[in-house]
Amino acid sequence: MNDSLIGTCRSDFPILHNRIHDRSLVYLDNAATTQKPSAVIQSISEYYSTINANVHRGVYTISQQATDLFENTRETVRKYIGATSTSEIIFTKSATESINLVASSYGDLHFKQDDEIILTMMEHHANIIPWQEISKKKGCKIKVVPIHQDGTLDIETYRSLFTSKTKFVSMVWVSNAIGVENPITEFIRIAHDHNVPILIDASQRIQHANIDVQKIDCDFLVFSGHKAYGPSGTGILYGKERLLEHMPPYQSGGDMIKKVTFETTTFADLPSKFEAGTPNIEGFIGLGTALNYVQSIGLDDIAKHEAILMNYAINALKSLDFISIIGYNGTNVSAISFVMNGVHPHDIASILDKKGICVRAGHHCAHPLMQFYKVPSTTRISFAMYSTVDEIDACIRELKEIYSLFS
Ligand code: ALA
Repeated sequence: MNDSLIGTCRSDFPILHNRIHDRSLVYLDNAATTQKPSAVIQSISEYYSTINANVHRGVYTISQQATDLFENTRETVRKYIGATSTSEIIFTKSATESINLVASSYGDLHFKQDDEIILTMMEHHANIIPWQEISKKKGCKIKVVPIHQDGTLDIETYRSLFTSKTKFVSMVWVSNAIGVENPITEFIRIAHDHNVPILIDASQRIQHANIDVQKIDCDFLVFSGHKAYGPSGTGILYGKERLLEHMPPYQSGGDMIKKVTFETTTFADLPSKFEAGTPNIEGFIGLGTALNYVQSIGLDDIAKHEAILMNYAINALKSLDFISIIGYNGTNVSAISFVMNGVHPHDIASILDKKGICVRAGHHCAHPLMQFYKVPSTTRISFAMYSTVDEIDACIRELKEIYSLFS
């Protein structure tokens, strides 16, 4: 492991050196959003201080400089995920918007009455509701891949869900709620055996390990910038060019046209066709900086470091007989969900907050998954490249205190 970089990266994140409630900040809610390195904060500030101008529009120097930096991020994302061309990289405001774009645009073009869409039991609401909405409009049916108690998707049932009416599969790579990593290469292959396209939600995977969209051969892939050390309000949609080319625009307005008359409009080529209006310029400049930063630390080293933390935290939590881990099958990536006997997750999170420890309590935007586990909510701890064993120890110490307080 590249101990020196992983060991020193904390100094790149200003917020980690703050105190809260007179304690050192222990940030264990990285699945909700990651903290930002100084390089990202500076790149946004520098853009505003030196070259703030709209992109794709100005012939003057600072507009062209802003456009270059903004478009550099498209190339950075392309390389980061192994896409063939920057035409396949669409900038959106979030992973949620990316999924809405595909459901709405691809769905409108290709779905019809009685068609079927396959989702899984562990989807985030953002990968359920857009499909429900297009299904209501078109009269489609949603089928759901069930899971086993340990959080493993039932791949045999998945195989059996395909019929001649199956038109799309959309599924998560790593669950935001329980951290389980799905064997998506196999899921993609099965979908393609039936000539069905598949979208992968990589929001909880992109920041933790290498991704190569050509190798896994997904048709669409989405993620959020803010979960990968970048700014909020930035999302990516990757799509195979031959699919994106035929899809109608999701929104319309400036910057996505070739020619407009009152009678008709011809749309711009990819990727502009899907990017109406002034984009989040500073956000995408920051996202480029963030992804370059992640690569400078090294995704292999990040993955190794986070696997060590996962192992340590799982063993520590398993040793507490008043804790039940929800959905652990050994593949989990950087997030652990659990419940404590007799103590509500919100009480746990509120008490931890007073000790300077940030964790998430709730349903994690995954109601169907919570219903499967018969819990209204869980407590979730989640790691990033800068997380440490000492932070896990601090959390475990406080969990013991909380349990003794309530019992
Ligand atoms: N989807 C984010 C989470 O899991 C917000 O916390």
